[in-house]
Amino acid sequence: MRLLVIGGGGREHALVWKIRQSPLVETVYCAPGNPGIGQFAECVNIAGSDIEGLLEFARKNAIDLTVVGPEQPLVDGIVDEFEAQGLSIFGPTRKAAEIEGSKAFTKYLLDKYKIPTADCIVFDKFEEAKKYLLEVDYPTVIKADGLAAGKGTIVCQTEQEAQSALTQIMIEKAFGDAGSKVIVESFMAGEEASILALTDGENITYLPSAQDHKAIFDDDEGPNTGGMGAYAPAPVVDNNLFSKIREEVFEATIKAMALENRPYRGVLYAGLMITADGPKVVEFNCRFGDPEAQAILPLVKGDVVEFMFKIAKGKKIDKQIEIHKNRWALCVVIASGGYPESYEKGITIHGLEQQLDKDVIIFHAGTKKGEGGKIVTDGGRVLGVTAVANDFHKAREKSYWAVGKITFDKAYYRKDIGVKALEHLRR
Ligand code: GLY
Repeated sequence: MRLLVIGGGGREHALVWKIRQSPLVETVYCAPGNPGIGQFAECVNIAGSDIEGLLEFARKNAIDLTVVGPEQPLVDGIVDEFEAQGLSIFGPTRKAAEIEGSKAFTKYLLDKYKIPTADCIVFDKFEEAKKYLLEVDYPTVIKADGLAAGKGTIVCQTEQEAQSALTQIMIEKAFGDAGSKVIVESFMAGEEASILALTDGENITYLPSAQDHKAIFDDDEGPNTGGMGAYAPAPVVDNNLFSKIREEVFEATIKAMALENRPYRGVLYAGLMITADGPKVVEFNCRFGDPEAQAILPLVKGDVVEFMFKIAKGKKIDKQIEIHKNRWALCVVIASGGYPESYEKGITIHGLEQQLDKDVIIFHAGTKKGEGGKIVTDGGRVLGVTAVANDFHKAREKSYWAVGKITFDKAYYRKDIGVKALEHLRR
């Protein structure tokens, strides 16, 4: 098979790395890709937003399956466009991708089908939201309705913070049209977990649980980022909890989407809060998590391409994907100093040429080839360093050991990835 993967970050590097291992695959293209992805796939210079260009490329190159990494093309309807031209593509349609594209839609769905989540009210008028913020309990959560690159959710400790977040979103349009509606949601206390599953719209196969680290600083301090590290599986999700999540969240949501005439096919990512009252949905994403994919995919033994191709072809999946038993993976993200605010690009990265360890994988996120073919920084999150081992401590140790071998000016990473898992394992 000839595959095209859309995207150029760490998630897509992990996808291409895994896809390349499939015996079904002959050729992999990635648009636009990055230098790390270039070791496994032919990178083509087409942006993920250029749906026409991607369609033309897929037609001309007889692509058998396209796999979409980021959310924006899915929310923009790339799957509908490819399918209209008879091309196989893995991902939800535009209407189904609204589960990530509109938080107001998701809250409507969760409420209607009694899927556990926090209470909320949706506002499309600034003055009404402003008044409501005088009555709520704090902390409270304000979310922009649409896509905001992971920055559209603001936890507000005081009314003053909430009013300022509301003004930023609805008046100053910090996230553009994504902020034309806001959701004011009750704060949920607990520990977060990310559960990802592949589904044909009816049957579901689950990937190992994971935990992301969204805040920029250790101890979950500072502003949110796209994610500073992840590990899998997440010990906070024990077997009982996983089966509750399968039933109460995934099965209920997949049924609800079918009943709403938005059958969901693709990967569904549930961002959950594990509260004292059980798991509750924080958000859904219509794609693989980043960096979660960089910890989850190395634990998958089965052939993801077989599952993706079946789902894209509208066939039913009839088994669970095989997962490596008793394996742990931990990914530490190395970012550019200053991220998630402003940061420099074009800084030379040292240490990438070393053969580190067979169980260490360096996923490229924001890199490009600079002068003389040197790899330089080209984004906020630059690399994801994943290590896999039979023991969580070893995976963590090895990942941080490998992080220490890679240097660039102003590189920054969190030192506490996996600390919550260590606490669970100690208990
Ligand atoms: N790591 C969070 C996300 O992918 O949305």
